[in-house]
Amino acid sequence: MAGGARLAGEVRVGGAKNSALKLMAASLLAEGTTVLHDMPEILDIDYQSELLRRLGCDVVRVGRTVSITVPAQLGHSAGYDLVRRLRASINVLGPLLARCGVAEVALPGGDNIGSRGLDMHVMGLERLGATVTSEHGYLIASRDQRLRGTTVWLDFPSVGATENLLMAAVTAKGTTVIDNAAREPEIVDICTLLTKMGARIGGIGTSTLEIDGVDALGPAEHTTVPDRVVVGTWATAAALTQGDVTIRGARADHLEIALDKLVRAGADVAELPDGIRVRAAGRPRAVDIVTLPYPGFPSDLQPQFLALNAIAEGAAMVTENLFEARFRFVNELVRLGADVRTDGHHAMVRGVPKLSGAPVEASDIRAGAGLILAGLVADGVTTLHEPHHVDRGYENFVDDLVRLGADVARVPAYELA
Ligand code: EPU
Repeated sequence: MAGGARLAGEVRVGGAKNSALKLMAASLLAEGTTVLHDMPEILDIDYQSELLRRLGCDVVRVGRTVSITVPAQLGHSAGYDLVRRLRASINVLGPLLARCGVAEVALPGGDNIGSRGLDMHVMGLERLGATVTSEHGYLIASRDQRLRGTTVWLDFPSVGATENLLMAAVTAKGTTVIDNAAREPEIVDICTLLTKMGARIGGIGTSTLEIDGVDALGPAEHTTVPDRVVVGTWATAAALTQGDVTIRGARADHLEIALDKLVRAGADVAELPDGIRVRAAGRPRAVDIVTLPYPGFPSDLQPQFLALNAIAEGAAMVTENLFEARFRFVNELVRLGADVRTDGHHAMVRGVPKLSGAPVEASDIRAGAGLILAGLVADGVTTLHEPHHVDRGYENFVDDLVRLGADVARVPAYELA
């Protein structure tokens, strides 16, 4: 890609990857056909579909709708070949344990962004009455009787642990309280689907979820929440390129801190009935970032904001509190001429007037997005290697960039060798 273009025009944002994958896992809780709309057309959905098929489900995708027919008798084992490809596969653990009495899930892979422990998943399931062991690379959870309601205090509002415990608790006997629960819009989305399926969940959207177990759930139909990280990526791209981008389908209320940071960086953000419009004229001002669980600043937008700060007026401190390895991509940003120093989970960024194009490599979805944004404001040609990481989280990213005026093209890997 060649830098220098000002992005202008419209993009439409679809359903959130990090909700869609969990909604698919939630469908396992009910026999019958659950229908999910506005599912992003990305590879992770294909992997999760294949995982559900191997458990005995019939999964059909027509455009952006995925229909999952769950049999009365489900398989209970999710093997390494699929699980290693996506972290969200760990989310079948809770529903399979609840439905089958036993669940075996290979320890997950996914993004290369840190150790990503599962201790809170295990602790919570044990408190609900399960026995959890780890053998030969598999996490095995089983129960002798129905799970029983209890109070679980999470050390940290983990998204994955909250989801797994929620899905295990909806059919437990009695009341479960998840305290210090995550409250991301994607968690609210899963709670909404589970409620449609017959679950009884109180405190949705707060950090204390109270779940009254029911005997069984039924299938339901649901539309996935819009992807706030994709929205935030486009919004940052607009500010960075001094552009004018209307993002249809965006929910500003899911992105308040990030949009406020863009305003402080000098952009104009306007809320529209079905989205937002982000305009900027002039070089952005540097903005400090501290990533935190929702409603804090999302870690999934940290690399994009690092790219913004790299060419901003002034200096900024970026603090990453969620994933220790998320600064790995800083070395790549430095290859583009950025002035960034990291120390543990802090990065000091001193803005330079212009970056300079170079070959770089994506190590995970958001690092790839951050590097693409940096390439948009780099002099000359930037080549992003391993772009498949970006495809995992962004539908038609290159096509949309081209429509907005960027000079970007996908080059077959053999032509780069
Ligand atoms: N953690 C533990 N123990 C646990 C659970 C989590 O130590 O039992 C730690 C993790 O190691 C990590 C931190 O807590 O350092 C946050 O983990 P969390 O469970 O909240 O995140 P996740 O469920 O693994 C999801 C998204 C991430 C997103 C985070 C935070 C999916 C598939 N992944 O991960 O998305 O960054 O929440 O919002 O939903 C991405 O889309 O690029 C991505 C990485």
